[in-house]
Amino acid sequence: MGIRQVANTEAPALTAAVDVRDLWMAYRPDEWVLKGVNLRVPKGQLWVVMGPSGAGKTTLMKVLAGLLPFQRGTVEVMGFRLRGDLTPPSRRVVGYIPQQLGLVRGLTALENVLLGSLARHGGLGPTLGFFPRSEVTRAREYLEMLGLGDKAETRVFQLSGGERQRVAIARTLMQDPKLILADEFVSDLDLPRAARILETIRGLVRERGLTLVMNLHEIQLVQELADHVVVLKDGKIVYHGPAGTLEWSSFRALVEAEDGRTGVAGW
Ligand SMILES: Nc1ncnc2c1ncn2[C@@H]1O[C@H](COP(=O)(O)OP(=O)(O)OP(=O)(O)O)[C@@H](O)[C@H]1O
Ligand SMILES: [Mg+2]
Repeated sequence: MGIRQVANTEAPALTAAVDVRDLWMAYRPDEWVLKGVNLRVPKGQLWVVMGPSGAGKTTLMKVLAGLLPFQRGTVEVMGFRLRGDLTPPSRRVVGYIPQQLGLVRGLTALENVLLGSLARHGGLGPTLGFFPRSEVTRAREYLEMLGLGDKAETRVFQLSGGERQRVAIARTLMQDPKLILADEFVSDLDLPRAARILETIRGLVRERGLTLVMNLHEIQLVQELADHVVVLKDGKIVYHGPAGTLEWSSFRALVEAEDGRTGVAGW
């Protein structure tokens, strides 16, 4: 059986965490980076976006996070209609982990994680660095859960790439978001550790009914952990289907770059 080429033919889910219709986005006039993307992610699922470098994965994530304008189409995220004018959805609802992580290098791991709780707290206390004890405890628990208990007091610039990625995950979990958008957030971790972290996160996704949309290159992890895979190539969705039933041999061509390099690990 070959690969299904899919337009947005799925029956509509009752509730979607992400509902994108005919999305077009260009950084410069008429240079389209996203070319009519349709994407409907049901609540409570873990979806992976794959595709070669430059396909538009980060661009799509940023549009969903409300951080990039778009020119055409409709984008709804957790019931919030984005207007394409950089009004992001509430951070209480959508947590975004950028490819560059966005950590404050001079603060400790714990302080960075606590910054995630700012989304949930008003008042001056947190901005002055006074967090409720319960928040500090929760922040420590997330660091512990992600294997960073002993790094809480270490400043971010002294952490490895994989450790920083885990700090960024903990910070996002502190927001208590309903939807997490994660851009290559375990790419600096070795495979066994990435698998452990993703299993932990999947546990949270299931337990709390969250939705996770992420970019991920490692095929084994996608097969083991994702519900659904979407392949973006040259700004278009060229495939989507359940992760468990993918035929990887024919799938490979879809995620390969034109020059033959693949953005996918584990072939
Ligand atoms: N700020 C920008 N201004 C202009 N063009 C951009 C900008 N950011 C990205 N692009 C272009 O848009 C296209 C898609 O980039 P994007 O970062 O979304 O790709 P990607 O799929 O995330 O790639 P990677 O796997 O390397 O992270 C690329 O051609 C890139 O050069
Ligand atoms: Mg990217």
